[in-house]
Amino acid sequence: MASVDSGGSSVSGVLRAGGLLCASLLLLGVCCVDGLEMTTAKVPLLQATNGSTVLLPCTFYSCIGIRNLYFSWHFNDNSTMVKLCDAVIHSEDVEPNVKLWHKRVEFVGSAKNKNISILLWNITFEDEGDYICFGRNPKEKKRNHSAIYTLLVVDQLTEVDNTLTTIIFSIVGTLFVCTVVFMVAKALIVNFMPKKEDKK
Ligand SMILES: *[C@@H]1O[C@H](CO)[C@@H](O)[C@H](O)[C@H]1NC(C)=O
Ligand SMILES: *[C@@H]1O[C@H](CO)[C@@H](O)[C@H](O)[C@H]1NC(C)=O
Ligand SMILES: *[C@@H]1O[C@H](CO)[C@@H](O)[C@H](O)[C@H]1NC(C)=O
Ligand SMILES: *[C@@H]1O[C@H](CO)[C@@H](O)[C@H](O)[C@H]1NC(C)=O
Ligand SMILES: *[C@@H]1O[C@H](CO)[C@@H](O)[C@H](O)[C@H]1NC(C)=O
Repeated sequence: MASVDSGGSSVSGVLRAGGLLCASLLLLGVCCVDGLEMTTAKVPLLQATNGSTVLLPCTFYSCIGIRNLYFSWHFNDNSTMVKLCDAVIHSEDVEPNVKLWHKRVEFVGSAKNKNISILLWNITFEDEGDYICFGRNPKEKKRNHSAIYTLLVVDQLTEVDNTLTTIIFSIVGTLFVCTVVFMVAKALIVNFMPKKEDKK
């Protein structure tokens, strides 16, 4: 009757194994020799406002070249992988025929530029989470590769927060100026008093 709570962890386990594999190969300097690499932006995190349209970047690279490279984008929705789009890139000269599984997803990459980025239109708070760019090159024995891009959705309320911050800074600034003026005045008075006494 013992229940094993391991739902969802198997998927991230596979992804992590893929990442580690490439990392350890990189250490040996052989990742470039036979491995496919999937990469997102330098900063794999984006903060965007509710209602905006975002670019989810991903590029691939393989030293041995690609043939029938399969790629896909998934959204990790509470540990459930939701497929957003997928396609096969036959070669770098042929643009893929991308199947879209999500209404607000648009493929904007190009095989020629090794770019498989997508646009996610009109984002909502439910779109917040991890986006996985997955790739498999049959040339290298079905090894899986992936990169993760995290999307944070923020409300326009942050602008109100900025106003509040400005107000707080103004108050603090005013207090600081008042304190300085007070201290200068005090110093002047203290200096002035003995002079008055000297004259006596
Ligand atoms: C998010 O944006 C949409 C469209 O601009 C708006 O209808 C909705 O109320 C916003 N949600 C929140 C929680 O601000
Ligand atoms: C996400 O998962 C947690 C438990 O794992 C559950 O309590 C929660 O309702 C889920 N949320 C959604 C939106 O499915
Ligand atoms: C995004 O929202 C705009 C305005 O609400 C709408 O015209 C457009 O069709 C939407 N795009 C998608 C892909 O849903
Ligand atoms: C990939 O293509 C998109 C859309 O054309 C572009 O905005 C992005 O800069 C490209 N990324 C790279 C790394 O070239
Ligand atoms: C690669 O991913 C596929 C799912 O797309 C899975 O069926 C397969 O077992 C994975 N292979 C390895 C070696 O992880």
